[in-house]
Amino acid sequence: MAEDLMQKIVSLCKRRGFVFPNSEIYGGIAGFYDYGPLGVELKNNIKREWWQEMVWLRDDVVGIDGAIITHPRVWEASGHVEGFTDPLVECKKCHKRFRADNLAEELGKKIEGEEKDLIKSLTKVLSGVKCLECGGELSKPKKFNLMVEVGLGVIEGEKAKTYLKGEACQTIYLDYQNVLNSTRMKIPFGIAQIGKAFRNEITPKNFLFRQREFEQWDLQWFTHPKEMEKWFAYWKEERMRWYKSLINHQEKIRLRQHEENELAHYAKVAFDIEYETPFGWKEWEGIHWRGDWDLRRHGEFSGNDFTYTDPQTSEKFLPWIVETSGGVDRTFLFLLLDAYRKEGERVILSLSPRIAPFKVAVFPLLANKPELVEKAKGIRENLKKQLGIKIAWDDRGNIGKRYYSQDEIGTPYCVTVDFETLEKDDVTIRDRDSAKQIRVPATELPEKLKRLLDREVKFE
Ligand code: GAP
Repeated sequence: MAEDLMQKIVSLCKRRGFVFPNSEIYGGIAGFYDYGPLGVELKNNIKREWWQEMVWLRDDVVGIDGAIITHPRVWEASGHVEGFTDPLVECKKCHKRFRADNLAEELGKKIEGEEKDLIKSLTKVLSGVKCLECGGELSKPKKFNLMVEVGLGVIEGEKAKTYLKGEACQTIYLDYQNVLNSTRMKIPFGIAQIGKAFRNEITPKNFLFRQREFEQWDLQWFTHPKEMEKWFAYWKEERMRWYKSLINHQEKIRLRQHEENELAHYAKVAFDIEYETPFGWKEWEGIHWRGDWDLRRHGEFSGNDFTYTDPQTSEKFLPWIVETSGGVDRTFLFLLLDAYRKEGERVILSLSPRIAPFKVAVFPLLANKPELVEKAKGIRENLKKQLGIKIAWDDRGNIGKRYYSQDEIGTPYCVTVDFETLEKDDVTIRDRDSAKQIRVPATELPEKLKRLLDREVKFE
């Protein structure tokens, strides 16, 4: 059943133009995907929701958009060159590589919580385990660095080695002082960014879940060390509240604290917001206690002084950081998994109207009646102007098929123009989730749809 749901989502994504495998005509490339016409709408809506929540609605957060390539020293300072690794085992016979912690999890072998050294504990639990592909002997777990290298420059042999961003947030630390100097932000405050990250994942899998190129949304919250605890608790709660507001299945989201052996090199404490996917409870967003790690390290490596002087008390201190870091593509996948349901032959994506690719569709009842088509086109153009949103159009097949087709891509409301419209100037609105219909005067349609989409009124 579980695998079945993933397959259904993958196939729906391709068939309806949400997500395509990258470079498909060349046989594809593991861990890379492209977003199609509907996918880009959904993804942009999701990103806009995050940006609105984290930047527009707050006075204490500003945004940036940093470059993908940075000075190579950034990644030495950040600890990624040395410490950004995953445990890997390789089959000595067929040379297939596996991520050791995932392999242990798949085989139901529990890594003990009190064991601090992950490699040691994985060596223990995986001893005697054979290759899942060919039954060959597996190597001992070793650390594998995930950074993706780039050769920068025009002269062969003299190219500078740098990296694609292993985590998007690094440019926030690089720009922190420029933001302080160019705005009126005072600590505590946050810098937000949505940006690409690249990782040489050992086993990209589960569709958009683990890719080699993906997008992250990050908030880096700069605080006085004395207030760290308070803000860490605050952001855990805020982020849970926001994710809950986007899903239907409230029982499928939870907050889980990392064991010591799971912690990234930059985090003292970490919590994951997790979602129960068909392939188990999985990380959606990390809330990380980064403390003084980033500004201290970038200070040491660059010689820059990151000391902050409080404008009121003149106290000098190095700000500490709470990070909230989530995956845009994972959100995309989890929201589709959460929204998918079937009622008989009817497939419904119960996406929140805030993020649905099309919020409204308009149909003429019959495509071969020019008066209906003309009236429906006029209504659609008016809705576009008044609501400023993307509105679907469909005049193929019968009306029932068109409703089903919109249900499958999550369009919350369909508007049908029929012969009665020509007489009485009213239209039918049909609700995706209940399949109920109501009749509304065409003049009231934009306001009614707006209030329905904003969930200000019930469908009646
Ligand atoms: N700056 C902190 C950081 O990068 P992370 O837990 O490694 O922390 C944050 O990543 C989020 O990015 C994860 O919670 C997940 O949603 C997303 N993410 C991480 N690796 C990913 C991958 N290979 N493919 C898709 N999304 C990924």
